[in-house]
Amino acid sequence: MRNRGMSEEISAAELLESNGILGIEYAHVYTDQQFSKQHRLGIAELHRLPDGVVSSRVVLVDDYSTGVSIDRFDMTAFLLNLQRNDAVPDVVVLESEIAHYCGSVIDSISDSKLKRRIVSYYRTRGRYPCSALVATWYLLRLGAFGNPIIPCIYGRSDKLYSDALLTILPDCFVTSEVDALNIIAQTDYSSMTRRIEHIYFEHQEDVHSDWDDFDAEEYVARNYGRSLLAEDRQIIEFVISALQEMTIEPVSTKIVADIGVGPNLYPALLASPLIPHDGTIELIDIAERNLAYLRAVIEGENNDHSAVWEGFEEYIRSLGYPADLGTVRRSASVRKGNIYELEPNRYDMVMSFFVGESITDRVSEFDRATTTLMASVKPNGLFVIAHMIGSRGYFAGSDTFFPAVGLTMDQIRQKYEEYGECRYRMIPRGGNVSARKGYKGMAVVVGQKKC
Ligand SMILES: C[S@@+](CC[C@H](N)C(=O)[O-])C[C@H]1O[C@@H](n2cnc3c(N)ncnc32)[C@H](O)[C@@H]1O
Repeated sequence: MRNRGMSEEISAAELLESNGILGIEYAHVYTDQQFSKQHRLGIAELHRLPDGVVSSRVVLVDDYSTGVSIDRFDMTAFLLNLQRNDAVPDVVVLESEIAHYCGSVIDSISDSKLKRRIVSYYRTRGRYPCSALVATWYLLRLGAFGNPIIPCIYGRSDKLYSDALLTILPDCFVTSEVDALNIIAQTDYSSMTRRIEHIYFEHQEDVHSDWDDFDAEEYVARNYGRSLLAEDRQIIEFVISALQEMTIEPVSTKIVADIGVGPNLYPALLASPLIPHDGTIELIDIAERNLAYLRAVIEGENNDHSAVWEGFEEYIRSLGYPADLGTVRRSASVRKGNIYELEPNRYDMVMSFFVGESITDRVSEFDRATTTLMASVKPNGLFVIAHMIGSRGYFAGSDTFFPAVGLTMDQIRQKYEEYGECRYRMIPRGGNVSARKGYKGMAVVVGQKKC
């Protein structure tokens, strides 16, 4: 995979190995959308490609996952916008036209677990997952099914077929693209993955997504599910050492909360040894999909994702700290709530990771969220808070864009100083390029509230 800023390095020779045709896909659009900022950003990447490549320009219109018919999409206006931006395609195809090739791709998957997962997705939702569609779309264009005539809404289907593929997409699509390549790697066409390249650019929109569009599974897969990232290891190690330096009686942490918990259970694991048998940890978030995710993991209904948190539990325990997923499951109360509306003086201990700065793009709202969050901590209560430094926004699922305030470490110190004695750690940005753009690192604050 390549990332923004690297398009200069892409050589057609590298991609094509011979004098073949490069199929360039850009300006991906859903039938419930219009031409927007992200299309302009993608077209800018298209124009940065080196000259002299024999290429075919391809646009895919997704009417399949939206269920919105092409009749309700203003294709003329979309094409006019492409033309105005000097990006007229050779061919435009509807995603629903390629869906029926998915079955044969799934049949050829050798990994039985992966195959079962895709089939079960299809059975429960009545449609294929994006990753399977993307895999099919790439295999089709590389000639895996011969070169069938596909009905096109613009141009001719022979323009679909090429020797190598380059896809220009906003970074928020990275997870389904990675999953698609993994699918192809498990089929008879595995060698074709070498003929597929990507340019990802930073997804930006003028409007932020709704919290209910927060895709818990995608967010976990990218941030917590593939491996335990260096940043999270350092956060965990710092929190453990800071907590161990404080003298905490078990009884003093009977009511604990993780505010804006999202689908992240490692703060709760860090709190777990401090929660007494009759204690509670309230896992509070505003987004329903996060709450549903947590309930499924806590009730043992999501084996793949339970394994992610068992991995965190194992890592934390390997540091000699007795984290216990069983305690989290037993004491968790998962509920919808709002950081701005917390009950004052309710909690003995509050965790809140990447929330105050990641729910707004206004400093005044970050200040308000911190005030209500800290008011919910009892005098002498503990707080463990993490913030992104310098974030410009982020995504959680395809085509989502959530806000952020670009904080500095000094701002964070000044903010928490007034609440009590704190320990701070700045964790520098690691190598996880797909986490989010712009951020410079993560700040962790562990403190005890003044009386
Ligand atoms: C960047 S995510 C952080 C998730 C998680 N804490 C983590 O460590 O990965 C921000 C979270 O804040 C939640 N959120 C947004 N607005 C909120 C609000 N007003 N009150 C509580 N949670 C909110 C979102 O649903 C999302 O789960």
